[in-house]
Amino acid sequence: MKIILGIETSCDETAIAIVKGSGGLLSPQFHILSEVTFSQTKTHAPFGGVVPTLAKREHVKHLVRLLEKALENANLPPNGERVKTSQEREEMVRTILSREEGLADQLLSFTARISIPYIDAIAVTRGPGLEPALWVGINFARALAVLWEKRIIPTNHMEGHLVSALLEGEQVIFPALALLISGGHTELVLLHGWCQYVLLGETRDDAVGEAFDKVARILGLPYPGGPEISKLAESATGKFLIHLPRPMAGSGNLDFSFSGLKTAVLYAVKKIPTLTDAIKADIAEEFERAVTDVLLMKTRIAARRHDVKTLIVGGGVSANRRIRETFAREFEKDGIPVLFPAPAHATDNATMIAAAGYLRRESGESQGPEEELEARGVLVLR
Ligand code: KG4
Ligand code: ZN
Repeated sequence: MKIILGIETSCDETAIAIVKGSGGLLSPQFHILSEVTFSQTKTHAPFGGVVPTLAKREHVKHLVRLLEKALENANLPPNGERVKTSQEREEMVRTILSREEGLADQLLSFTARISIPYIDAIAVTRGPGLEPALWVGINFARALAVLWEKRIIPTNHMEGHLVSALLEGEQVIFPALALLISGGHTELVLLHGWCQYVLLGETRDDAVGEAFDKVARILGLPYPGGPEISKLAESATGKFLIHLPRPMAGSGNLDFSFSGLKTAVLYAVKKIPTLTDAIKADIAEEFERAVTDVLLMKTRIAARRHDVKTLIVGGGVSANRRIRETFAREFEKDGIPVLFPAPAHATDNATMIAAAGYLRRESGESQGPEEELEARGVLVLR
């Protein structure tokens, strides 16, 4: 059994979680001790998307407060030791956090007030994501690791989305397939075991979540657009006979393309003289259908080709109801169980990072706080 503190700052969610992992790589199980997420949506909404410098500023502002809350909620037994203060240690912390204004002061004063919590290691998202945002989490994790003398587990955000379905206590039978659909990624991944992945296909242009967000903007809906489209589609009547393409559906390979779909929505909207709410709802529904059809077709080809025993669907877009219902129904026909994260764990969170960190630690991957660790805007899952 290991207790992992997870830190996630790859995009516009600042999140910290404490998770107890057990069972090793063969039958991992997770018990969530605490999880706190601060969503920066309100900061970015006026810009219609995430602004990296603002995301960085917000992470800097909220991390210590969230850490305090996560520790309080987890109610861990203190190990009785206080942080060993020395000028050298303080200087190290200040150097690590030299580009996160005010964060070193906040962290030093907070950690001086409490005794070192009983955790085994600190998992932090190193990528993929927005680099200015990733750096805050990485530097914060390193500074904390210096103060508490803990090891760091660099974690891939997409592996987090992949394991988020496990948080419900489900077990995966291998070979398994994962469809990861988020704001930045659309990937089909074959799993031979935990930490043994092969990328089978990915998007050639926009990610699914990105397409949802762009179509929402075309329809005049606020950011983030996914949940808005979903809500609007529920009131569709189908009266307006909108038809959108299913890009690359028949291509035979496992790659995706969603930018054409977005353009098709744009053209359809331009042809309509007055865009009423009823027409918008029909467009939203047809868009959701088109996306779901393509995702289902490709996932089915991959599942059959590799004779997989479990399907995992993860990432922010996996919160979508139509996608969930369609996948559950269709794969039941194929006899393949589909695992989804709980809606709260579908979008970005630190619980999934702590859980993925546990798996990586079990496979022997961790490093000291003094070792170099760089943010990776682009990072392939392997
Ligand atoms: O995984 P995530 O929280 O962040 C990234 O790693 O990108 O995914 C965010 C994406 C956004 O594009 C958002 O619009 C989309 O997930 N999303 C949804 C829904 N909830 C969030 N898309 C469709 N339907 C939803 N219910
Ligand atoms: Zn994500």
